[in-house]
Amino acid sequence: MKKKSIAILPGDGVGPEVIKQAIKVLDAISDFADIEFDYQYGDIGGKALDRHNTPLPKETLQLCTSCDAVLLGAIGDPKWDSGPADKRPERGLLGLRKELGLFANLRPARVFSALENASTLKKEIISGVDILIVRELTGGLYFGTPAEDQGDKAYNTMVYTQKEVDRIADIAFAAAAMRRQKLTSVDKANVLLVSQLWRRRVKQISQTHPNITMNHMYVDNCAMQLVRNPGQFDVILTGNLFGDILSDEASMLTGSLGMLPSASLGESRALYEPVHGSAPDIAGQNKANPIAMIASVAMMFRYSFKMKNCATRIENAINRVLTEGLRTVDIADSNTTAVSTEQMGTAIAEKCL
Ligand code: IPM
Ligand code: MG
Repeated sequence: MKKKSIAILPGDGVGPEVIKQAIKVLDAISDFADIEFDYQYGDIGGKALDRHNTPLPKETLQLCTSCDAVLLGAIGDPKWDSGPADKRPERGLLGLRKELGLFANLRPARVFSALENASTLKKEIISGVDILIVRELTGGLYFGTPAEDQGDKAYNTMVYTQKEVDRIADIAFAAAAMRRQKLTSVDKANVLLVSQLWRRRVKQISQTHPNITMNHMYVDNCAMQLVRNPGQFDVILTGNLFGDILSDEASMLTGSLGMLPSASLGESRALYEPVHGSAPDIAGQNKANPIAMIASVAMMFRYSFKMKNCATRIENAINRVLTEGLRTVDIADSNTTAVSTEQMGTAIAEKCL
């Protein structure tokens, strides 16, 4: 029997609720594929601040480096919002991404045909949309130095090295090669020097991929094109900040932020988490949509465990429950009674058996 150890970091808000549904699905897959999972729980974010006075305890980091993959629920707790910068829950996640070297963040936004009416956009605009956002995750404005709050003045620095651009571009071109051979690189090269370097490098690298149609797009235009004509996009390659913003925007094409999974990959480590945050307003109410979390588990099977059959099984299970009409409140319309987090999780897990 195969064995896999998974670091489980439920985190804050709705994190623990959606993680619980992910475990149901993993248990079902364990039966189906004859794999044994060793779940190792750790604290991060607000939970870790409560218990260890740091958003990323050493034990958690150790746990994550010793396991085959990391599953994370969500981060963020309003209780800690007004504290000093190093005592914010988000620091835990940013620290973990940096420490594990998770530079490549893959965020697929695919419109399920059963949910074509769930988006705020017209059906004919979003029908068939299938976009992969490749977001650089350990550089750019999030990590650039110098960065300081001096009280009456504060600044961050957006910085990318050629090496950082090249390695994320390589990932994006490789992804495009496996998809529809189209890549849009998003920057702000009409204003920012860092984007001019970004554009130069991407252009250079595109020459080694003659089969992939590449275009450059300014980020403001991309934000507009995503709602005007999202069908034009296949792979979107972009930096850390722009990717953060555009992926939330892209989620609305699919009906809800509760639908978007993600994989954060490094040379030797990987972390899987939903794109949504901790949603403190609905935490503990059994209302959150667990699909983003469960689809992140599918990505773990695909990218970390190279078990495509398990990934597809989970994705098919999600598709089937949606086709049967099951909806959590975020994707329900006025004619549908919404199911709870637990009900959605159980229904998907049963279809994975
Ligand atoms: C995301 C989140 C994080 C980010 C926060 C929680 C630090 O918004 O994963 O998109 O900004 O990267
Ligand atoms: Mg975000």
